[in-house]
Amino acid sequence: MAKVFVGRNQFSEILDRIARVHEMKVSEEDPPPRDRLLAEVRDVEGVLSFSTTKIDAEVIHTAPKLRVISNYGVGTDNIDVATATRRGIPVGHTPDVLTETNADLDFALILACARRIVEVDAYVRQGKWEKSGPVELLGVDVNHSTLGIVGLGRIGTQVAKRAKGFSMRVLYYDAIRKIDIENILGVEYVPDLHSLLTQSDFICLRPVLNEQTRHMIGAAEFAVMKPTAMLINTSRGAVVDQNALYEALKSRRILRAAIDVMEVEPIPSDDPLLTLDNLILTPHIGSAVQATLNKMMTMAVQQLLAGLRGDRIAHCVNPSVYGSSSK
Ligand code: DGY
Repeated sequence: MAKVFVGRNQFSEILDRIARVHEMKVSEEDPPPRDRLLAEVRDVEGVLSFSTTKIDAEVIHTAPKLRVISNYGVGTDNIDVATATRRGIPVGHTPDVLTETNADLDFALILACARRIVEVDAYVRQGKWEKSGPVELLGVDVNHSTLGIVGLGRIGTQVAKRAKGFSMRVLYYDAIRKIDIENILGVEYVPDLHSLLTQSDFICLRPVLNEQTRHMIGAAEFAVMKPTAMLINTSRGAVVDQNALYEALKSRRILRAAIDVMEVEPIPSDDPLLTLDNLILTPHIGSAVQATLNKMMTMAVQQLLAGLRGDRIAHCVNPSVYGSSSK
């Protein structure tokens, strides 16, 4: 029986699978307060983390017995994977099961931005509906427009597939060119971010957050976008410089944006982004469909249990910990 720490109290019936075989402690606060987290990990062998559970080098060093970190979610920017790898600790995550759910949200936000769904909803509720319709709230077409996807990974590819159903021209920028996807979906590679930004009507951000992509969209990038551009960010808040986003929207440098992720989550109540009428905000709901969340949790628990048994984790972001023989 190993000691396990779980970073959030959610899906207790699925978490029970851990409690049946191990000694499990679940944080009642999300995120767990720093001092509590450091105290709890001292003698644990496994951690089940969430995007809000910050497993940095100090946490890993404080946990000498730690053998597995299983993350609920596909992004692992909340974990210092390099330090875990140096310690030989596998880090699991939950790809695939959430891909299409997340791509649906990107598309929902593209359509909501284009057709001003949030604004027209308010218009109806405020009793402003007149026979002429909301002439001051006209939208733009998504169909036959140009979509630029930054990061053509699993989710970005599914966004591209949806876009093709809307007869969009799809450009993508990625560190790695994906010729197979170009051939299947008819998407076009652009070799630099600048070309994508200048040509796109809608820009979807789907990169992994790391030191190269942190603030990759800032004032210089907003400056080259079309004045009619709309930016959708459902990846990680820190990919965008939020001050620059505020300025670009406030000054109408770009037309609209929709963001599901912010640098600080939940967004502080005095954040100036909340004052903008050309910004749609959603609370990090990319995967927030019951069936998808259940699959993610089931996978996270299975991978934690596998890691504690000493079995190889199926979806491991640092497979080098297993050595070359088990590749
Ligand atoms: C993910 O899967 O990375 C989601 O954003 C949840 O953190």
